Amino acid sequence: MGWFRVRQSQGSFWFCATAVGIGLIGFSSFPQTAFHDFLSTTHCYQSVRTHSKATSYVNCFSVTPSGTFSKVFQAADGSSLAARAQPGFVIPGLWEYATLYSLFLLLEDVRGRLESYLSDHPNAGTRKEWLRGLGWDQMALGQMPTAADLAASHQLKDRYIMLDRVDMHCIWVSEAILNLLPESIPDVSGGDIVRYPGMGVFCDNAMKIIMDLRPEPDAAKKETFLRSAMTSLHKVGLVGVHDAGVNPGNLALYRDLVRSSDWTLRVYAMVECYERNAFCGNEIEKYVDERGFLDISSVKLFADGALGSWGSALIKPYSDRPDTSGSLLINSSELTKIASAWATKGFQVNIHAIGDLANRNAINAIEAALQLTCREPSLAMCQARRRFRIEHCQIVHPDDQVRMRSIGVIPSIQPTHATSDMAYVVERLGRGRTTEEAYRMRSLLETGPVLGSDFPIEPCDPFQGIYAAVTRRNPHTGQGTDDFPEGWYAEEALSLDQAVRGFSEGPAYGSFMEGRAGVIQRGAFADWVVLDKPLEEMDIEDFRSVNIRETWVAGKRVYERN
Ligand SMILES: *[C@@H]1O[C@H](CO)[C@@H](O)[C@H](O)[C@H]1NC(C)=O
Repeated sequence: MGWFRVRQSQGSFWFCATAVGIGLIGFSSFPQTAFHDFLSTTHCYQSVRTHSKATSYVNCFSVTPSGTFSKVFQAADGSSLAARAQPGFVIPGLWEYATLYSLFLLLEDVRGRLESYLSDHPNAGTRKEWLRGLGWDQMALGQMPTAADLAASHQLKDRYIMLDRVDMHCIWVSEAILNLLPESIPDVSGGDIVRYPGMGVFCDNAMKIIMDLRPEPDAAKKETFLRSAMTSLHKVGLVGVHDAGVNPGNLALYRDLVRSSDWTLRVYAMVECYERNAFCGNEIEKYVDERGFLDISSVKLFADGALGSWGSALIKPYSDRPDTSGSLLINSSELTKIASAWATKGFQVNIHAIGDLANRNAINAIEAALQLTCREPSLAMCQARRRFRIEHCQIVHPDDQVRMRSIGVIPSIQPTHATSDMAYVVERLGRGRTTEEAYRMRSLLETGPVLGSDFPIEPCDPFQGIYAAVTRRNPHTGQGTDDFPEGWYAEEALSLDQAVRGFSEGPAYGSFMEGRAGVIQRGAFADWVVLDKPLEEMDIEDFRSVNIRETWVAGKRVYERN
């Protein structure tokens, strides 16, 4: 066992406590501290990195039965507690930015992988249950794929197959799905129906045409999926996730799931209406679970698409495609209107923005929403309370970087996006824009970034994200680019301490949980991760493949390495 229980002397309190339970805690004749300590379980390790202001490192803490820290302390050398310390070095539980509802399988050799999947699952790919994959990239495939490419394999012909592009901004579908559509499909604003070299790919707003035809998996299937996602997140030290877009139906499922005693993932769920970039705040009930397992008080809006598919909206045209500046998914006035509607309803507004035009529109929308809803003397003070965020925040004009810092708009950044995209960023943007605008991290730090990985688009190991943030090199290869072998624009790298806080303290602040999550201190949720070595003593290359010992959530062990 990784823990032991320390009973303290007030035996009679125990009886009262079990009989009357938690209600007794406020009772004036029992000092709250003593009462908590008495019911608590104490854990000691070789060292505990706390992130708290009081003490940076201790070796013990106690956890209440309801799963919060009641005491964080240093047991004296030679004391019985210190002698019984468990092996391992503790850090606060880590948080992640991800979209949980999108997994399924990763594709490399698309047809080969699909065929082999189908030989193991011969009934997959029906009208009622589409086969869904993720991970293609037309750059790697050599050209834009088509439905006919899939039909070339007789095993795949007639199957209902839908494959997300690596950035999830386009989908590629099979002929069976195309056949569900009318003969002629008109163009969609803010989207792209790829017609050459053939039909099959739908991007951004055009994806809705397909999504509307898609059979919804049933609740049981979703639950199975979510539980398996929960397990794989705990395995890499994650205790919570900012789920970047949850529709009203799935919010209801979350509300059911978090009630069950074996649900152990903290979810900060951003609402995404059935219709993207809409206001559906009158149908959504805000909900904040006291135990910290579910929070529904934020919304996700989408300003543009991704850089890889020329979908992100730029102020000036792409350097490698002067005919286009990408496309907005929603125009500036509409974005401001929707953001303001949500802000008025008391929701935190989080806007996906990649290109510099999208980021500018997002900042405009945030500024307008703050002006509309706040009574504080300055926008910065107002923002400190509302905490509006820009998700990804990848290419930001220098003028807008200044505005972000002055208002305190929170950048929510995925360090591995920089290291996955670095191979083609200069091609798309040219050197000037890349140097001044792209994938800033240190320049935006003042506002306290929320870091994450954007699973399933990037693998969900936060230590790889920390590696990418600290080295600006790809965690899979350990390499930078030919131009920057030591790290891509390494002047934007973060220190190890900043990066670790970006996966703990940053997300806590970005979700109104500062002091309660991402920190080991009295009153915080008792979430922690046990490592073999202190973080500070690890070789940075080791961050590419960290194998953690244990993960604990609310005082319960949820992962143990074997
Ligand atoms: C912005 O979009 C809205 C909704 O699609 C539309 O009604 C409005 O005319 C657009 N505004 C501009 C300036 O294009």
